[in-house]
Amino acid sequence: MFVRQLFDRETSTYTYLIADEVSNEAAIIDPVKEQLDRDILLIEQLGFNLKYTLETHVHADHITSSGQIRDKFGSKVVLHENSGAKCADMLLKDGDELTLGDIVIKAIHTPGHTNADLSFLVEDYVFTGDALLVRDCGRTDFQAGSSSTLYNSINEKIFSLDEKTTIYPGHDYYGFTASTVKEEKLFNNRLGNGKTEDEFVEIMANLDLALPRKIKESVPGNTNCGL
Ligand SMILES: [Fe+2]
Repeated sequence: MFVRQLFDRETSTYTYLIADEVSNEAAIIDPVKEQLDRDILLIEQLGFNLKYTLETHVHADHITSSGQIRDKFGSKVVLHENSGAKCADMLLKDGDELTLGDIVIKAIHTPGHTNADLSFLVEDYVFTGDALLVRDCGRTDFQAGSSSTLYNSINEKIFSLDEKTTIYPGHDYYGFTASTVKEEKLFNNRLGNGKTEDEFVEIMANLDLALPRKIKESVPGNTNCGL
C-alpha cells in the first residue's frame, strides 16, 4: 500500500495520499486549499486514479480543496453524517467501509473534538484527524466538542486497535510525523499512561486556547467543500 504524508506549514496540517498500487486507485485525506496545485501535480505524476477525498472532520483552521479536487478528478467527497456538509457525495457512519482496489478503508466515528470526526483505519495505519495527535489531542471547546466523548472515543476505538498500528495525525506542532497505538497509550500527555476521564476533562478545561485565526471562514467554507 502507498502512503505519503504531506504538510501545510502555515496551518501545521497533514494531508495524506494513499493508494492501492495494483489498481492505482487512490484517496486523499484532508487536503488544504493552498496546496491544491502541489497535490494535483503529485497525483498526476504518480498516475493515480483519485476516487475519494476523505475528510476527518469539518476543519476550523484551514479550508479544504475537496470541491476543486472533485472538479479535477471526479473524486467523491466523503465526510461523517453529522458534518452538515451539503456538498458531500457520501456521508459515512461508524463502521462503513470504502475500497481502493483490494484495500479496505474502515470509517471509525471518533467524536469529541467535534461531533463529526472520523478516523480511517487502513491496513496497519489509522488516520486520526484531530481526535488523537502525537502526544496530544484536538481541542474540545467548539464545534459540538466534548472532552468526555473524546476520552471514550480514543480509549474505546483507537487504543483498542492493534498496538503496532501506525497513527497518522491531522496536525503536528512539535515536529512529530507519526506514532503508534502502543506509544500513545504509554506516552500521550493528555490521555496516556492510564489517565482517568476526570483527569482528562480537567486538563482540557484548563487549556485556555485562542480561537483559530481562520475559524469564521473555515467552518462554513468546509461544509461547502471549500467552494
Ligand atoms: Fe480540527
